[in-house]
Amino acid sequence: MKVFFFILSLTSLGLADEEINSRYFPEGFKFGVANAAPQIEGGWIEDGKTESIWDHFAHTHPEMIIDGSTPDIASDSYHKYKEDVALVKAMGLDHYRLSIAWSRILPTGYTDKVNQAGVQYYKNLFAELKAANVEPMVTLYHWDLPQVLEDQLGGWLNETVADLFAEYARLCFELFKDDVKMWITINESKQVCQVGYGMGAYAPGVVSNGIGEYICTKNVILAHAKAYHIYDEEFRATNKGTITIVIDTTWFEPGSDSEEDQEAAERMLQFTFGLYANPIFMGNWPQVVIDRIAERSELEGFSSSRLPAFTDEEIVYIKGTYDYLALNHYSTLMVNATADAPIGDPSYDNDISVLTWRQPEWPSGSADWFAVVPWGMRRLLVWLKKTYGDVEIIITENGLSDNTGIMEDDHRVSYYQGYLSACLDAIYEDEVNLSAYTAWSIIDDWEWTLGYTSFLGMYYVNFTDPERTRIPRKSASWFTNMVATRCLVDTCTE
Ligand code: NOJ
Repeated sequence: MKVFFFILSLTSLGLADEEINSRYFPEGFKFGVANAAPQIEGGWIEDGKTESIWDHFAHTHPEMIIDGSTPDIASDSYHKYKEDVALVKAMGLDHYRLSIAWSRILPTGYTDKVNQAGVQYYKNLFAELKAANVEPMVTLYHWDLPQVLEDQLGGWLNETVADLFAEYARLCFELFKDDVKMWITINESKQVCQVGYGMGAYAPGVVSNGIGEYICTKNVILAHAKAYHIYDEEFRATNKGTITIVIDTTWFEPGSDSEEDQEAAERMLQFTFGLYANPIFMGNWPQVVIDRIAERSELEGFSSSRLPAFTDEEIVYIKGTYDYLALNHYSTLMVNATADAPIGDPSYDNDISVLTWRQPEWPSGSADWFAVVPWGMRRLLVWLKKTYGDVEIIITENGLSDNTGIMEDDHRVSYYQGYLSACLDAIYEDEVNLSAYTAWSIIDDWEWTLGYTSFLGMYYVNFTDPERTRIPRKSASWFTNMVATRCLVDTCTE
């Protein structure tokens, strides 16, 4: 049985109308939801926790946060974690992706003082999940560097921070060795580095376009690799779990069949995904990234490339530090070739030099950055398979951002239905090795610079209500039913 999804005007692209795949999700395919400490916990300086760079950024630069808000209380999960776990359990989910706040465990940033109250919070949370039969998928770094390490060391621009991260990771592997089997080192290095240390729009707000972001990227990749090796050598045999890094990308669709546009879209993917993934999957930066930055750096008068090179030892050390490919994906953009930006001030965008745009007829989630394009996810999954081989893939985030907060969120149901259908297409038609899907998000949260104005939760949270009551939107029951039936339409076939 075929059920037609919304009709997109894709004729200009020569694509068929979207339709919902009516096969069951394969046996063993897992479903989960994701969240992150700085976005839901609150308790920002409670029980010994110290400021993270995001706490500090929101407090010192309210003009950078759309509603001038802070994550001080957020969804108050520090106090309401039992409720959150009950919701996850009621949805019948296999895993719950959450993150540990570094400065809740290590208030000085270093391993000299372990905050027992912080450790206990996560122990309690993991015990609750265990009792609910839900697997924790734990991110060690979801953008919340202890502020003290920014102040003292310059944060991710300093390679020492990679060593400190590795020590923090080792401590967590040890502390939670009986509680956690699915480890993720770092979430979305691109946002950490490009937006945090290049554009300066995210914490810590360092503006160092075309320079800082690449230094940061190398350090983040080294930090990941160090943590991976510690896990591999000291914990894997007994913990028997997995560890990887989460990388995000939009899908970039060539604006035409011309060779130039095809190349531009591929270049964009290499600068947004390959830059962060290739060192880990293949050992080094993508060649097109190496060549373009080297060439532009020389023309700009630098004596060496703004992209720091990996040594031969580093290449061997980093290559292969993944157990599976963890992907965050939300949306799609069109890409056209454009003339190379003139040589002037260094910039990441100029290093890429492409034109991106959105098809006006694409439905949006009412947020500016967003377009609902399920086939983009399928194409991305196929591109990943082509580029990185037949690797196991887990979607660690996908969901609809909307700025109304509406309870009858049919558009979110359509989004999930369309994107999950694209997953089924990729699994059954393209033989992509996709083993799990994680929705962002179960409850509304503090959305970084969008503060409390962007809603992605299947449960509404009223941020002006001290109780922070969680109230189900329509999508919560749709998703729960989908997980129970493992099917996206009324009747499925094997
Ligand atoms: C990706 C980030 O990992 C997450 O923190 C964020 O809230 C979502 N995108 C939605 O914007």
